[in-house]
Amino acid sequence: MASPKVAVVGAGVIGLSTALCITETCPSCSVTVLSDQFSPNTTSDVAAGMLIPHIYPDTPIHRQKQWFQETFTYLFALSNSAEASEAGIHLVSGWQIFKSTPKEELPFWSDIVLGFRPMSEAELQKFPQHRFGQAFTTLKCDCPPYLLWLKKRLKATGTQMYTRKVADLWELHSEYDIVVNCTGMGAHQLVGDKQLFPVRGQVLKVHAPWVTQFIRDGDGLTYIYPGIHRVTLGGTREKGSWSLSPDAGTTKDIFDRCCSLEPSLQGAQDIKVKVGLRPSRQCVRVQREVLSKGGVKLPVVHNYGHGAGGFSVHRGTAKEAAHLVEECISALQSSSSRAKL
Ligand SMILES: Cc1cc2nc3c(=O)[nH]c(=O)nc-3n(C[C@H](O)[C@H](O)[C@H](O)COP(=O)(O)OP(=O)(O)OC[C@H]3O[C@@H](n4cnc5c(N)ncnc54)[C@H](O)[C@@H]3O)c2cc1C
Ligand SMILES: *[C@@H]1O[C@H](CO)[C@@H](O)[C@H](O)[C@H]1NC(C)=O
Ligand SMILES: *[C@@H]1O[C@H](CO)[C@@H](O)[C@H](O)[C@H]1NC(C)=O
Repeated sequence: MASPKVAVVGAGVIGLSTALCITETCPSCSVTVLSDQFSPNTTSDVAAGMLIPHIYPDTPIHRQKQWFQETFTYLFALSNSAEASEAGIHLVSGWQIFKSTPKEELPFWSDIVLGFRPMSEAELQKFPQHRFGQAFTTLKCDCPPYLLWLKKRLKATGTQMYTRKVADLWELHSEYDIVVNCTGMGAHQLVGDKQLFPVRGQVLKVHAPWVTQFIRDGDGLTYIYPGIHRVTLGGTREKGSWSLSPDAGTTKDIFDRCCSLEPSLQGAQDIKVKVGLRPSRQCVRVQREVLSKGGVKLPVVHNYGHGAGGFSVHRGTAKEAAHLVEECISALQSSSSRAKL
């Protein structure tokens, strides 16, 4: 196989970054991205894109930590480059605050973000209802800019991108040697992965350029994440809800909760409401599988189920998926050379 043909299905942050990693680890591969939606119509476009990990209960912590470290290192370098503003990547400092002392005083990612420390008494005076807090600096990916930057990088490598809904992986086997599954919530319908469930999130994107520090209530429900152009206000976590329509009562509730943490948001303008379904699972599925039907084999690499923390680990899981694609290629090459003997 001079030039293995790889189809990446999905064009959210996971699909695009996985396609990019494959072009980096396998320059001879011919990569195609197939997706029924592109930016600005993916879940990834709704996200705030903050690099604060969410724990996947069934994924070993050392693996989650490595994914986060790789993602942080990659984006930190990008934030220090001339492309930072086009890519929508920037550093942001702020506070995670708690009404009582958290169970684990040091989250596993505390030595990866920058300058992690307990908040001082003086800082805590800003939050009279909270008793404890952590200050740190992390990175944020603004979307759509980051997705558009990934697309541009892919185009420069010659990657083809087509709008296409894939109803069944087998429809790809005659055209491609390997299929990479980055369909997010879409994996639920495709093969019926029953371990995957939606966690609905509603957010507001507002104009409030004076807000420059992030604030996150440690319960994860209320947050204020300033981006380059807009501030994301959240949020909700509604397990099992498939509704993509904004709820007016929820909008008011989010706004009130955020104003109670940052009263100056009363002056926010141009409020836009967005809803996304987090593709949630007890563990992210980054895995190789060989499907087989009537003697025909189709190697598949899965990379989905990133739930509430896809941005935080995307580069790490994309690299791992790209290595699995390399393994598939070696396996195909050794079986085709055996066949020639
Ligand atoms: C409100 C909200 C806030 C969030 N905030 C953060 C945050 O601050 N930090 C963080 O790390 N994470 C955050 N997340 C989580 C993050 O958005 C997700 O983990 C991430 O976007 C998942 O990316 P994905 O590429 O797997 O999915 P998606 O972005 O949903 O992409 C899936 C792609 O697959 C395509 N597809 C699906 N099925 C098919 C099919 N059958 N055929 C062809 N194409 C198909 C879709 O069209 C789409 O292009 C947030 C999520 C929400 C909802
Ligand atoms: C996003 O969805 C809208 C509404 O369905 C559609 O008009 C637009 O073309 C889509 N954009 C892309 C890039 O697919
Ligand atoms: C992705 O994986 C899911 C779960 O195994 C499966 O149902 C679906 O068909 C796969 N989709 C693609 C495009 O590979």
